Amino acid sequence: MTHRIDMAAYRRIVILTGAGVSAASGLDTFRGHGGLWRQFDAEACATATALRTDPLRVWRLISFMRRGAKTAKPNPAHQAIVALENKLRATQSLTVVTQNIDGLHQRAGSHGVIELHGRLSHTRCANPRCSLKPFEDWELYETQTPRCEKCGAVLRPDVVLFEELLPPDAYRACDDAVRACDLFLAVGTSCTVHPACDFVFTAKDHGATAILVNLEPPENAVDVFDEIHLGPAEELLPALLG
Ligand code: APR
Repeated sequence: MTHRIDMAAYRRIVILTGAGVSAASGLDTFRGHGGLWRQFDAEACATATALRTDPLRVWRLISFMRRGAKTAKPNPAHQAIVALENKLRATQSLTVVTQNIDGLHQRAGSHGVIELHGRLSHTRCANPRCSLKPFEDWELYETQTPRCEKCGAVLRPDVVLFEELLPPDAYRACDDAVRACDLFLAVGTSCTVHPACDFVFTAKDHGATAILVNLEPPENAVDVFDEIHLGPAEELLPALLG
């Protein structure tokens, strides 16, 4: 039986989400049954090397993900996090950190979401010296790689690919929040990808309570969590967050 977490007992709350929180919205997770990395070769279409050598392959993956994310609706897991945000006392804070690039937390109404891995909804110029700013773009590019109208370089998705560093501001904001939190709640993540999977250790080192809500036990980091609730986030979160 899932008990309600006494959220009033905590002042600084961090919720880290992964692909599992969007599963009930019909979006694929990356690992496990039916995961994206079973359908696409991550090495060949989700790395900085792939972007350099075969950008159209990267865009085919991104187009597949955009097709689903563009019309996906937030589910009760996203909505439970928004409900928590709306009932916090003035002395409490909530920071939502997501590994997801689907934008569903914002679509549900969450504020100040830290997107560690970028956002599917935007495209930017691959040339770091170009003045073109990232722009909202849900276009699907499956037959031709888009080019920058300013400098002619390849356009790329505004997401973090493997072999790339996280956006420094996002990482710093997340690290600050994790060091200051007294509750670290991880939801729908396999706890396998750095640096997101390391944040729970930082939180614990700074005295936080760590709770995991996930469909299955994580491959690692099991011992670091004070509580693990196994099951679908769209059912457990509304009960846990009350
Ligand atoms: N409720 C809760 N958890 C779920 C649900 C659900 N309805 N459905 C699946 N899960 C769990 C799975 O059991 C799995 O442990 O969600 C987890 C999703 O794990 P991954 O697919 O590895 O996704 P994530 O942890 O977000 O991956 C991190 O890896 O490939 C990169 O950049 C990508 O952001 C991604 C990062």
